[in-house]
Amino acid sequence: MSLDILTVNNLDGGYEVFIGNRRVFVHAVDDVSLTLHDNEVLGVAGESGCGKSTLAKMVYGGIIPPLVVRSGSISLVTRGGEVLEMNKLDIDTIRRKIWWIEISYIPQNSMNVLNPLKRIKDQFIGVFKYHNIEMDKNEIIKYLKDTLTTLSLPPEVINAYPHQLSGGMRQRVVIALSLLFNPRIVLADEPTTAVDVVTQRVILSLLKEWRENNKSSFILISHDMSVHAYMDNRIAIMYAGNIVELGNTFDVFREPLHPYTKALIESLIRKGDKSIRKGLAGQPPDLINPPPGCRFHPRCPYAINICRAKEPPTTSLDKDRYVRCWLYANPR
Ligand SMILES: Nc1ncnc2c1ncn2[C@@H]1O[C@H](COP(=O)(O)OP(=O)(O)O)[C@@H](O)[C@H]1O
Ligand SMILES: [Mg+2]
Repeated sequence: MSLDILTVNNLDGGYEVFIGNRRVFVHAVDDVSLTLHDNEVLGVAGESGCGKSTLAKMVYGGIIPPLVVRSGSISLVTRGGEVLEMNKLDIDTIRRKIWWIEISYIPQNSMNVLNPLKRIKDQFIGVFKYHNIEMDKNEIIKYLKDTLTTLSLPPEVINAYPHQLSGGMRQRVVIALSLLFNPRIVLADEPTTAVDVVTQRVILSLLKEWRENNKSSFILISHDMSVHAYMDNRIAIMYAGNIVELGNTFDVFREPLHPYTKALIESLIRKGDKSIRKGLAGQPPDLINPPPGCRFHPRCPYAINICRAKEPPTTSLDKDRYVRCWLYANPR
């Protein structure tokens, strides 16, 4: 049986913002529970605006207003076997003990996080200093060159300024930076969305190889189901702040249960299939005033009366497969 290295329980939160002088709450993460196993890729899928990036920020512990966590817990088992309650730690402890070493984060649009005024090597050296890692400069440079090579980047990249690199190369540099200290968990938020399809495949296969060699675990966020089909061991489907289905990737693709999962898979283009793809009409709801009952009901072709009135319970089919939909709830 695989070890759970990260456990998220009933996590709930969002953004406290003002519209004019009216205070509102954007309920972006609603009662989310999931586990991450040792040595696996757990995908998080769903359209844009469903709360995937917010969930990533919460798990990483980078809670900056207007983002707030209202309830729930996140516990982490470190490489040393210590169990840490992430939301009880102060930010200094999280920075020192967790970030880069236990959990690394590749934020969405991360090719733009590099400092334009610094050469790549100077950005990396800063990270060593920050973690008080004692290595002389030549050793650091060698280590950096090796890390860049894992992502098929030429070693000379360390002397470049970000603007001298293409978008795809900058993205790879940021990914290399996140892998520098062999983190046990990598939280990758749309790591390949901003690059072209060919570069996307190259980056994904390099990430896959790195992970398999290092036996780390990934939480891989993407709106693109083909990325999930290629990368994930398990997949969680997120809709309007809820995880509506979770399961082994093969099982979910073979037999999707939730009508939303079915629609996401339907929209994939299959080899040799010339039929017109059925897209899902409409878009995810406004999370300030989400629909009552099941949040998906206004777009759901199978909606019945109860779906409009009451939130569906989570039905577990087995330990690692669950669905949140009235069609599977028993008794109704
Ligand atoms: N800084 C913010 N302030 C207010 N609302 C935000 C902020 N960031 C995201 N949101 C809102 O939170 C919801 C979830 O967004 P996000 O987590 O980015 O979704 P996803 O990553 O799935 O596209 C959206 O309705 C979005 O508009
Ligand atoms: Mg996002």
